[in-house]
Amino acid sequence: MLTHEQIAQFHEDGWLFLPELFAPEEVAVLRREAEAVYKEHRPEVWREKNGAPRTAFAAHTFNEAFRLLGAHPRMIRPVEQIFGEPVYMHQFKINAKSAFTGEVWQWHQDYGTWRRDDGMPEARAMNIAVFLDEVMPINGPLLLVPRSQKEGNLEAGHDLETTSYPLWTLDNDTVTRLVEKGGIVAPTGKPGGMLMFHGNLVHGSAGNITPYPRKIVYLTLNAVSNHIQKPTRPEFIAHQDFTPIQPVEDDALLRYARSSGLAAAAE
Ligand code: SIN
Ligand code: MN
Repeated sequence: MLTHEQIAQFHEDGWLFLPELFAPEEVAVLRREAEAVYKEHRPEVWREKNGAPRTAFAAHTFNEAFRLLGAHPRMIRPVEQIFGEPVYMHQFKINAKSAFTGEVWQWHQDYGTWRRDDGMPEARAMNIAVFLDEVMPINGPLLLVPRSQKEGNLEAGHDLETTSYPLWTLDNDTVTRLVEKGGIVAPTGKPGGMLMFHGNLVHGSAGNITPYPRKIVYLTLNAVSNHIQKPTRPEFIAHQDFTPIQPVEDDALLRYARSSGLAAAAE
């Protein structure tokens, strides 16, 4: 559970980072499974224009390790605490940001997409990022503009060109104005760290030209009463099952990692 100070910090800055929330064994099984998912040829796996994996959607619906992560109490409980009600999975994706080839995510607010494309009533969905690799200043960390969530949802343009993934993006003047007020931060850390951020927090990331991949799992947990009204995207991108998530046991992922023969692979 979060402390009062952590909740106050989230409301002020729009984000909160909990380093090393998941143990090396837990992360190792997720990393292995992410690599396996990226090799699959299925509509949920999107590739960069050059063919490298960019993101894989909905792995919690077809992969046991990610199913356990998607119902993990270390993520579900803090978000229930902030929203004061049960949550369901609006979106689940594993972003690759592959070594040498991972491309940019332009500046945007996620609620811009959830509102326009999915008909989500309010910005009462939380983004949770779980680091599967070490996130460093050099391998395309997520860049956040602190306090930008206080601006509400901003004008955006639909960028269908820059990358393989369509995105409602902010113009340079808007980003400059917000950065003058809030600056830019890039939370970094070891695999297993967890970052929570507000649906209206402005964020993006640069390309990755290093040999170090930067895989991050993103869960979007939406308050059940705020479920989407007008989905236009496929079900595997914007889920329409609004059933509240029942958290699994805290050690469920660890037990799965051990039973699937991973103990030796984790340091
Ligand atoms: C996103 O904003 O959805 C992804 C950003 C990233 O993984 O860098
Ligand atoms: Mn985003």
